[in-house]
Amino acid sequence: MKNLTSQDLRQLFLKFFEEKGHKIIPSASLVPENDPSVLFTTAGMHPLVPYLLGEKHPAGTRLTDVQKCVRTGDIDEVGDASHCTFFEMLGNWSLGDYFKEEMIAFSFEFLTSEKYLGIPVEKLAVSVFEGDNDAPRDELSASCWQKAGIPKDRIFYLPKKNNWWIAGNTGPCGPDTEMFIDRGTPKCSENCSPACDCGKYLEIWNDVFMEYERHADGTYTKLKQKNVDTGMGLERTLSILNGVPTVYDTDVFEGAKQEIERLTGKKYGESEDVTKAFRIILDHVRTATFMLGDPKGVKPSNVDQGYVLRRLIRRAVRYGKQIGLESGSLSLIATKYIEKYQDVYSELVENKQVIIDELNKEEEKFSKTLVDGLKEFNKVITYLKGDVFPGKTAFRLFDTFGFPIEITTELALEKGFVVDKQGYDDAYKAHQEKSHAGSEQKFKGGLAESNETTQRLHTATHLLNSALKIVLNNPNVNQRGSNITVERLRFDFSFDRKLTPEELKQVEDLVNEAISKNIEVKMEEMPIEQAKAQGAVGVFDNKYGSVVKVYTIEGYSKEICGGPHAKTTGELKQFKIVKEEASSAGVRRIKAIIIDK
Ligand code: ALA
Repeated sequence: MKNLTSQDLRQLFLKFFEEKGHKIIPSASLVPENDPSVLFTTAGMHPLVPYLLGEKHPAGTRLTDVQKCVRTGDIDEVGDASHCTFFEMLGNWSLGDYFKEEMIAFSFEFLTSEKYLGIPVEKLAVSVFEGDNDAPRDELSASCWQKAGIPKDRIFYLPKKNNWWIAGNTGPCGPDTEMFIDRGTPKCSENCSPACDCGKYLEIWNDVFMEYERHADGTYTKLKQKNVDTGMGLERTLSILNGVPTVYDTDVFEGAKQEIERLTGKKYGESEDVTKAFRIILDHVRTATFMLGDPKGVKPSNVDQGYVLRRLIRRAVRYGKQIGLESGSLSLIATKYIEKYQDVYSELVENKQVIIDELNKEEEKFSKTLVDGLKEFNKVITYLKGDVFPGKTAFRLFDTFGFPIEITTELALEKGFVVDKQGYDDAYKAHQEKSHAGSEQKFKGGLAESNETTQRLHTATHLLNSALKIVLNNPNVNQRGSNITVERLRFDFSFDRKLTPEELKQVEDLVNEAISKNIEVKMEEMPIEQAKAQGAVGVFDNKYGSVVKVYTIEGYSKEICGGPHAKTTGELKQFKIVKEEASSAGVRRIKAIIIDK
């Protein structure tokens, strides 16, 4: 096999597919354009979903790219040999163009040809979909591989769990065929296959044959067209091709690693603990650099993308302290990444100062309280009985010392304690209720957390939005802002005078009428043009062809929104407006609550 650098692999891949008639498209932003259901772009296909569903892509039906991706689901596993929160995915697409035969021939050629990766055929193994009630056994892919030269005993039929790809729960999907390097170690058992994790087979590429769409009720239908979506993780494939033990031994981390060694005087690999800390810092600083440097510029905060970024930076600071990294170091490490990636991602160079400033700010803020917070943590655990770490204390560590709950959870686990998450949530809520300033903030404990109350308030907001338009009988009454806490909703709309008490009462009554009818809140995904044609209200400044979620409350409201919502209007019980006031010139503000009768 060849020894390649990261840039060699990017270029080889793009060049190969360009020669096969593909247009090279740039990486999309790390923050998805019009999909509020995920915080980050998790695969190369993500930005292409509308085109897999049938929209025409301006660059044609054959595309290839290197896409920046973030997957934070396994953030706590970063530090082992294979998990990264940021990675680059090499991909190519057929949008209703070629299908299985051509794609498998492309894959075989790229993997084995001396001109490209030059992997000996006898080192390759592949898996294909074994079939079930939703889709047939993929005999065609298997025979294509066999024709190409992969012997039968290295073609494995595996179930949906292994050989079916979908991003999330709904949308374009299909059976896939995956390619592996066989490390040549003995089979772990008679049934040893790429599905087991004995380490014999290492995955390097995934070709997905997207000809199905999965719907919210779990059923599948055929898409308008047959697509191909492939994904090859750059760092992972590089480490396997070059025969190095982990992704952290590839050239992308080299400069940053040396910088940490210089700053701490420690050597990567000198002990297990030091290696783990190095990897966490290497990973998290790289991801933070790309988030801050993204055209959509994520900033540390307590919600959504910003919260993930904050967690990453603070976790890096915590592990940095363990190996003697001084405050101010993260931006020096980030600078090494900016240098390393400057020719591929010019946005990092353009946003260099922002990256440095934000890292310094966040690091300084957290460094100040980290030492005292750790002292407090250690004091608490000396007198704890049993194995539960009190939720109230976890909240104090957050409130006073800025410890994200996940850091406290991790620290507690290291010492054999489990954090009482419910207690933490209760303490958080109690605090919000006490402090008015606090109640103005939105905070998410987990990435996708949305409690029932906020879901009901979201639905109430839709009903309020439509009731205002009806009662004020004015087409120019438009949403200008919305903010929801567990206690109340706040809704800003364009209107140029105070509402009369009668009008407010009518609005309230109309919303309560919809509640009393217990109407289902229906969600459908559709292209933005269709939503518009159906008269949905919402933000329309999106790109042509993008797919949006439309929430419908039959007879009352149709609105584009990320959700989530109550299932039926009856869940809202009773709606009450508590305040109507001016927000700014030409904009009014309503605060309202829901009351559990
Ligand atoms: N979308 C496929 C993946 O991410 C190619 O593996």
